[in-house]
Amino acid sequence: MSNDNAKQAAGYKAAELVEDGMKVGLGTGSTAYFFIEKLIERCKAGLKIEAIATSKKSSEQAEAGGIKLILPEQLQCLDIDIDGADEIDHHKQMIKGGGGALFREKIIACAAKEMIVVIDETKLVEKLGAHPLPIEITPYGHPSIIEKLRRLEVCGEVRRDGEKLYLTDNGNLILDANMGGYTQSLQELDQKILSIPGVIESGFFWNLAGRVVVGYNDGHAEVKESL
Ligand code: A5P
Repeated sequence: MSNDNAKQAAGYKAAELVEDGMKVGLGTGSTAYFFIEKLIERCKAGLKIEAIATSKKSSEQAEAGGIKLILPEQLQCLDIDIDGADEIDHHKQMIKGGGGALFREKIIACAAKEMIVVIDETKLVEKLGAHPLPIEITPYGHPSIIEKLRRLEVCGEVRRDGEKLYLTDNGNLILDANMGGYTQSLQELDQKILSIPGVIESGFFWNLAGRVVVGYNDGHAEVKESL
């Protein structure tokens, strides 16, 4: 069953949270797509903002809709960032990067005063880890990086794009790691993952989420402070 109703409801509701004069981070993925769509509509109706996108795809969508873009080399503080998630738990800890944009997503989330998360209700989980953890790694020497991850019991598949290896907007690879059986502290594990040379970023987003906009299949959405 498609969650498009719920994603659209969340994305459109989140666009209402943007105020005149704000500097806005634009997320990536199918829910963020609806957010950007509504934001474009609001800008055409007179809302004045500047924005920076977390991926080439979202950047192209925003630019085609006439949103004024901030260049990455001029990125400083943003008022809000509105982005999706693959999983979010009751402590608002997340796995992101299903769309491969995790590195830019984390830079932009960290630059924002508040990261607002837009999700359909299926993204709410009791425990993180059923969704594979995307880890962005350099193509250079990647088998050795994957071996170091394996020694941490972080194993998975290098993401593919048909016959070829999938490349992120930064020209890197993604390892989609299976975290299902991991029982120890994921935050401690993440520190070890991030300390491996050649690991650019992981899809764990700790302590970054502010409000969460949850969309439901009946077409309504709620803005939540806590989950
Ligand atoms: C992109 O890299 C991801 O972090 C997305 O935000 C996440 O995968 C959610 O995507 P959907 O809104 O398409 O489910």
